[in-house]
Amino acid sequence: MNNVKEKILEIKQKLNEWGYAYYVLDDPVVDDAEYDKLFNELVKLEQEHPDLITYDSPTKRVGGIVLDKFEKYQHKVPMLSLANAFNEKDLKNFDDQIFKEIENKNYSFFVEPKIDGLSISLIYSKGKLFKAVTRGDGVFGEDVTNNVKTIKSIPLVIENKDDYVEIRGEVFLSKKEFEKINQQRQLDEEPLFANPRNAAAGTIRQLDSNIAASRNLDAYLYYYMDREKIKTHSESLNYLKNLKFKINELGKICKNIDEVMQHINYISEQRNKLNYEIDGVVVKVNNFDLYEKVGYTSKFPKWAIAFKFPAEIKNTRLLNIFATVGRTGKITYNANLEPVQLAGTTVQSATLHNADFIKQRDIRVGSIVKVKKAGDIIPEIIEPIKDETFKLLSVWKETHVCPECNSVLERVEDEVDQYCINSSCRRKVVRLMEHFVSREAMNIEGLSIKIIEKLFENNFIYNVADIYKLKNFKEELISLDKMGKKSVENLLEAIEKSKTNSAEKLFFGLGVRHVGKKTAQLLVTNFKDIKDFDKISFEQLEKVRDVGPIVARSVIDWFENKNNKKLLEDLVSLGVNTSYLGNIGSKYNEIISNKSFVITGTLSNSRNYFKNILEEHGAKVIDSVSKKTDYLLVGEDAGSKLEKANKLGVKIINEQEFLEMLGEK
Ligand code: IVH
Repeated sequence: MNNVKEKILEIKQKLNEWGYAYYVLDDPVVDDAEYDKLFNELVKLEQEHPDLITYDSPTKRVGGIVLDKFEKYQHKVPMLSLANAFNEKDLKNFDDQIFKEIENKNYSFFVEPKIDGLSISLIYSKGKLFKAVTRGDGVFGEDVTNNVKTIKSIPLVIENKDDYVEIRGEVFLSKKEFEKINQQRQLDEEPLFANPRNAAAGTIRQLDSNIAASRNLDAYLYYYMDREKIKTHSESLNYLKNLKFKINELGKICKNIDEVMQHINYISEQRNKLNYEIDGVVVKVNNFDLYEKVGYTSKFPKWAIAFKFPAEIKNTRLLNIFATVGRTGKITYNANLEPVQLAGTTVQSATLHNADFIKQRDIRVGSIVKVKKAGDIIPEIIEPIKDETFKLLSVWKETHVCPECNSVLERVEDEVDQYCINSSCRRKVVRLMEHFVSREAMNIEGLSIKIIEKLFENNFIYNVADIYKLKNFKEELISLDKMGKKSVENLLEAIEKSKTNSAEKLFFGLGVRHVGKKTAQLLVTNFKDIKDFDKISFEQLEKVRDVGPIVARSVIDWFENKNNKKLLEDLVSLGVNTSYLGNIGSKYNEIISNKSFVITGTLSNSRNYFKNILEEHGAKVIDSVSKKTDYLLVGEDAGSKLEKANKLGVKIINEQEFLEMLGEK
C-alpha cells in the first residue's frame, strides 16, 4: 500500500510539474501523449485505491460535479471595478488627482493589459484552494469553485499556508479556444458566443462542471495584497509568479504619464498578436502604501484606471447577401463584403444572422455598411450608412425558398429563424451526415465532409441509414477516386462498429432540433430505447430534468414525422442499436437513476468512491443541500448539511440503507 501511495505521489508531482510548464509557462516539457499516458496511469491507480485520491490530484480537474444552483458568497473586501480613460487627457487628470491627494510626486505606475474576461476571486486556506467566487455585484459573488478547479493554470495547492489568502484575477478564453467552441456550436446549431468574454462568462456560470472542463478556460492573476510583507504591485506579481500563478508578462513599471502612454501604445501594437483578447490597459499606482491616501470613490479605487481601446469600426461596401442552410434546416444569412482591414485581419464576409436582423437595420445590397468585429473576432455589420445613394437601392427581401433545394421555408411561431423542412435537401442532408458521423455522435472515423459529398453525388447515400448499406458497395467505393482499398475497409469497419453505440450517441446524431448531447443523454437514460419514443407523451418528456416545452415539442414533432419513422425503422433493420447501454448489469438503477444526492460526513470509504457508484447508476451528486435534493447520504460527524436536510425535509439515508437501495446488502 505504501508503495502505491508513493507511486501516486510521484506521478502527481510529475504531472503537476508538466502541467505547470504547459499551462502556466506555455513551454511544454513533454508531448501530449506522454502526459496522457501518465495521467491514465494515475486514473487507474486512483480507481483501484480511491482512498488515496487527494485534493491536488490532476484527475480532480475533469469536472463531474453538477450543481442545482450557485451559492452566494460575500466578498471579504468588495470587488471594485475601474473608472475608464479614453485618451491622454483622461490619464493626465487621473495623475493630477493622485498628485493632489498625496502632495508629492514620488510615485510610479504599473501598466498592464486589461484582460477581456471576467474577474475572479480565489481564496486559499492553509495552502488549499478553498473557494473561487465571481465578482457578482461586487459585494456578493457566486461560488464557482467546481468550475474554477477545472482551470489547469490555477494551482489547487500553493506554498503559502496562511489561514486566509485571497488572490484576484481574470478568467478568460484564448482566441483559439473561443473559435473552437463557436465552430462546434455552429455544427450543433447552437447560438454563437459573441466574443471570448461572453463565452468565458457563459462557461464559468455552467452548473455542470463537465462543460467548464471541456472548454479550457485560463486565468491571469493580478491582485494580491499583503501590506505587511509586500510593498508594491510589481512585487506582488513576482510573489504570485513564485506561487506558480500565471502572470501577464507585458506589465511594466512606468515613472510618469509619458512613460505610461508609451507603454500603452506598445501594448496596443501587440494586441493583434496576442492569443487572448484585451480591451484596454490598466494603469495602477505601484506603491501599496499610497492606496489609502489616494483613496476610493464608492465604485472605484482612485489609484487605478482602465484605459480603454476604441473598438475598431470600418466602412465597406456590402456586395451580396446570401443564405445557407444548416443540418437542422436552419437558414443563416451572410454578407459578402469588399475586403477591408479590421483589427489585424482582412474581412470580406460577415454574419447577418436571420432575416429580422437585416430588416430591422434596413441593410441593403450595394450600400456602404459599418463593420466591426464583435469581441474583435466575428465580423458583424452594425448598420448601413444612409446617404443619398442608399435611397436608390432596393429594400432587401428575405428568401422564402431554400437556397439549396428550392423548397418552401417554414418559420415556427415565436421563433426568428426560417427552416428548410425538406428531408432530402442536399446541403441539409450532407450537413446532417457530417454531424451524424462526428465524434460526439456516432463516431465514424473516415467519413469526412468531402467523402460524404462525393458519396452523395454518386448516389450512394441519401440519408444516414444509407451509411449502413455502404458495405454492399465495397468494390464501387474502392473505384471512387482517392478512396483506396485500405481506407474503404477501415471506413466500413468503423461504420459496423458504430452500430453497437449506446442510444444517446444515435439520438444526438439524428439531429433533432434543440436536442444537444446532454439532452440526448437525459432522454435515453429516462426512456431507454429510441424505438419507444413515439409512445412517449409531451407531459412525460417535460418531466425529465432540464427538458422544457421547446425541447419536448421538438422531440414529439420529430417522432411524428413519417420520414423520420421510416428512417428509424431502416436503422433498426440495418442492425443499429437503439437502446441505452449505459447501465447494463445494474438492475437497481431505477431507484436512484436521475435522483440527486448530497454526501456528507465520514463514510467507510472516500466520498469519491460513493460518488462514482452513484454516478454509475445514473444519479447526480451535488455539493449542497437544497429543496430539490432527493437524498442526503450521511456518515459520522455530519454537520450543517444534515441540519439543513432535516430542516428542508430531504430524505436522509445512512451507508447501510444506501447499500440496501443498491441491493448489495
Ligand atoms: S485591477 C480594484 N487589473 O477589469 C481594481 N483589473 O473594468 C481591481 N481587469 O473588474 C481591478 N484586467 O475584471 C485589474 N490587469 C487588470 C485587469 C483588470 C482585466 C478587469 C477586472 C475589473 C475590470 C474593471
